Amino acid sequence: MQNFSSKRLRVAICGAGIGGLTLAVALAQYPDIDIELYEAANSLTELGAGIGLFPRPWKIIQMLGLEDDLLMTTERKPRQGPVPAFNYRKSDQQAGFTFSTLVTNGTLITLHRADFQAVLLKRLPRTCRVNCSKRLRTYTQRESGTIELIFEDNSRTFCDVLVGADGLKSATRATFLTERANWMGSRGRIHEAADVASCIDPVWSGTVAYRALIPGDRLSAAAPGHSVLTSPTQYLGKNGYIIAYPISHGKMINFVAFVCRHDLENTKFDGPWTGPCDKSQFAGVFAHWEPEVHALIHCIDKCLRWAIHTMKPLRSFVSGNTVLIGDAAHAMTPHQGSGAGQAIEDAYILATVLGHRTTSRETVPRALRVFDEIRRPLATGVVEASRMNGRFFSLEEDGGIGFDQYTGPQLWEKLQKLHSAVVQNWEWTWTTSVDGSIQEALRRLEGHDCKY
Ligand SMILES: Cc1cc2nc3c(=O)[nH]c(=O)nc-3n(C[C@H](O)[C@H](O)[C@H](O)COP(=O)(O)OP(=O)(O)OC[C@H]3O[C@@H](n4cnc5c(N)ncnc54)[C@H](O)[C@@H]3O)c2cc1C
Ligand SMILES: *[C@@H]1O[C@H](CO)[C@@H](O)[C@H](O)[C@H]1NC(C)=O
Ligand SMILES: *[C@@H]1O[C@H](CO)[C@@H](O)[C@H](O)[C@H]1NC(C)=O
Repeated sequence: MQNFSSKRLRVAICGAGIGGLTLAVALAQYPDIDIELYEAANSLTELGAGIGLFPRPWKIIQMLGLEDDLLMTTERKPRQGPVPAFNYRKSDQQAGFTFSTLVTNGTLITLHRADFQAVLLKRLPRTCRVNCSKRLRTYTQRESGTIELIFEDNSRTFCDVLVGADGLKSATRATFLTERANWMGSRGRIHEAADVASCIDPVWSGTVAYRALIPGDRLSAAAPGHSVLTSPTQYLGKNGYIIAYPISHGKMINFVAFVCRHDLENTKFDGPWTGPCDKSQFAGVFAHWEPEVHALIHCIDKCLRWAIHTMKPLRSFVSGNTVLIGDAAHAMTPHQGSGAGQAIEDAYILATVLGHRTTSRETVPRALRVFDEIRRPLATGVVEASRMNGRFFSLEEDGGIGFDQYTGPQLWEKLQKLHSAVVQNWEWTWTTSVDGSIQEALRRLEGHDCKY
């Protein structure tokens, strides 16, 4: 048996999703850190949705030595330099037209979440156990800094650092914020307490996504020469948009229709958040759209509904020796394809600060503060940028009235402006690198200008 007290730190990771597993693999570089993973699901083989990774998080995949294994699960090959990513069409009219092409620097690599989990699991060190069927209920931190985790099956365990990687409905976040709200309440800071408590539950973004897989041969039979058979396309219009691109060498078309009610942002969604649905639930919204859109919807058999939820921005990702990463810290809309990428960045930076030679049981709070200072502003910015993309794609900017009023060259000019706004809002993901964050974290941990 291992003697835990001989280890520098015992880190418990709650949630074996993208963020939790990436963190475990990144921490495995430090043999004097003990890692334990607790996952609510009874196995890690569940079917997952597709995720996309831009060059920024892909750099981390390369640094962790995961690139070759991951590339075996996808047909996408990473390419540097300018790559056409999506054609944009104005589609909420009978005669739709392409008005621009998004060009990224480097490829967006698309993967299945389940494949990603499998590759990460394979890379976990033998000493790192994943305990499945362990749903965290709550935790308490003792004076000494030690944290006691309490699971739904009443089992318990101890750690020095608790990482809440438990996703959108994070139990770690709920405990963390409830404690803080109670503390504020007990000091008469009623409004602040209410503000903190309001960040516990996710809020509806106002948008519902409808996802489907369409057989490529069915689409080519129904609509020979359809744009999507050869190029990834986004069909934009008022109150919604559609994204469609070929996968599995064109055997399948990945289809997502977003229906946006921006006026209902931050309200409660009525009904189950996810589940099977019928295309009649969204087809009406696109009834007056161009024929290419009708052809796609015509070819859909089964679809899944997904009410997109986010959360109010947190004032800190850290409380005592507990830290939140990934969706638990900053669940975002999918309009920038960056939720998984941001979880990966969190994981890598957190491993960097926890693994640093200056970090010990005594200095955990300092390391976590550096993590919070580096990651929170960035992730919060991405949440907002992703929200803005959702508004651009559903032609909501300018109060949602601008685009209808113009035709001909004036409309064209407005659409070019829209394209520039999208690029400006999104280009951080292919013009910036994580190196800056890593260097900054090290500088703060080592620097003499350190405030702590
Ligand atoms: C349909 C869909 C499409 C998406 N598309 C993209 C995309 O194209 N690109 C992109 O970058 N992102 C995308 N995202 C977002 C991306 O999937 C998430 O941002 C990312 O998975 C976050 O990782 P995570 O590890 O924080 O959370 P998750 O991957 O959600 O993992 C959380 C884990 O914690 C476990 N858990 C939950 N509660 C507890 C508990 N109390 N105790 C123990 N374990 C618990 C869960 O079972 C789960 O395994 C998409 C998301 C969805 C749902
Ligand atoms: C594109 O990315 C590569 C590799 O990261 C970088 O060297 C190059 O400067 C980038 N080009 C542009 C135009 O941003
Ligand atoms: C996790 O699994 C190990 C090995 O099966 C077991 O010894 C340990 O008690 C489990 N931890 C919890 C908290 O149940």
